[in-house]
Amino acid sequence: METEPLFRKVAITGGAGYVGSALVPVLLAAGYEVTVLDLFLYGEDVFEGDGAHPRLRRVRMDIRDEAGLTRALAGAEAVIHLACISNDPSFELDPRLGKSVNYDAFLGLLRAARANAVKRFIYASSSSVYGVKKEPNVTEEASCEPLTDYSRYKLLCEEALRKEGVGEWMILRPATVCGYAPRLRLDLTVNILTIHALTRKVITVFGGSQLRPNLNIRDMAAAYRLLLEAPARLIHGETFNVGYQNRTVTEIAQIVRREVGDPQVKVTVEPTNDLRSYHINSDRIQRVLGFLPQRTIEEAVRSICEAYRAGQIPNPEDPRYTNIKMMRAVKLEESFVG
Ligand SMILES: NC(=O)c1ccc[n+]([C@@H]2O[C@H](COP(=O)([O-])OP(=O)(O)OC[C@H]3O[C@@H](n4cnc5c(N)ncnc54)[C@H](O)[C@@H]3O)[C@@H](O)[C@H]2O)c1
Repeated sequence: METEPLFRKVAITGGAGYVGSALVPVLLAAGYEVTVLDLFLYGEDVFEGDGAHPRLRRVRMDIRDEAGLTRALAGAEAVIHLACISNDPSFELDPRLGKSVNYDAFLGLLRAARANAVKRFIYASSSSVYGVKKEPNVTEEASCEPLTDYSRYKLLCEEALRKEGVGEWMILRPATVCGYAPRLRLDLTVNILTIHALTRKVITVFGGSQLRPNLNIRDMAAAYRLLLEAPARLIHGETFNVGYQNRTVTEIAQIVRREVGDPQVKVTVEPTNDLRSYHINSDRIQRVLGFLPQRTIEEAVRSICEAYRAGQIPNPEDPRYTNIKMMRAVKLEESFVG
């Protein structure tokens, strides 16, 4: 599809996170003016060479500060909302904090975006809103039966957005992201197995038959850019799954072992009671927007191997790579006090 920037000024909440650290450089290179609104929980140095880019503005703030958000969004034409306590364990660490960031702040963000007449609003939901499904094709029409509070609040935000709206809005339900980015998460399936193969020479698989939907981080960034640039008539009020390869955990372990290329790496299997499978169908985003992921799980594994061997992941045990460890360390207050 021929795309042309419709907006120049984009604000990204949580733009210093894993996805943001891959997306921000893509948008800067495409000519956007980018404002990152973030607490920088996982570090400041996440934009590599772009840190001092003249079109990058960083605003260190808590998205629960609605007055601050309203000020920070002045002039923003589009918002991509990524900020989040972004997985089940870190949400469950403190459910009240999780709700305040993942849900209450979302309502404030909608108000702040409306007050600034933001034209386009892209919400990062999650494919986990579907819960476990038996049917082979989990399309956007499948019922949502979230199994955890993290997923439930993702869905409640979707419902609030559908009800209240803000400019041209849309909802993206991504698969689990994989591959290297400057703010790296090593608590996601492909990434965990890869770092264990590299550092421990052992990949432990619990069960193994469970399906997981995956998306390379470079395709994740490309999908957000596409949503910024798509004509409003194709995206307004729409919900899109976005994923590429659905694979069992055993298959992922085999891919990792092969790509790491170290014959000493062993795959061990441990029993588990949790054989829940998740998978999604992403035909719709291809049909409507022509989006077809270009990068594989194999490339994601190789990107982490290359970064590790180049010394870019000096201490994989550092809490900055694992959300729950960092959330324990930073101890955010349950409610925001300005
Ligand atoms: N990574 C995935 O596999 C995946 C899959 C599906 C959906 N998502 C969604 O995509 C979004 C981005 O995910 P990610 O992997 O980059 O997460 P991440 O945890 O790496 O990034 C989240 C960012 O939000 C910031 N943040 C957290 N609380 C904040 C607050 N109160 N105020 C301001 N900033 C705050 C953090 O500092 C961090 O930079 C999330 O909404 C997540 O739920 C991610």
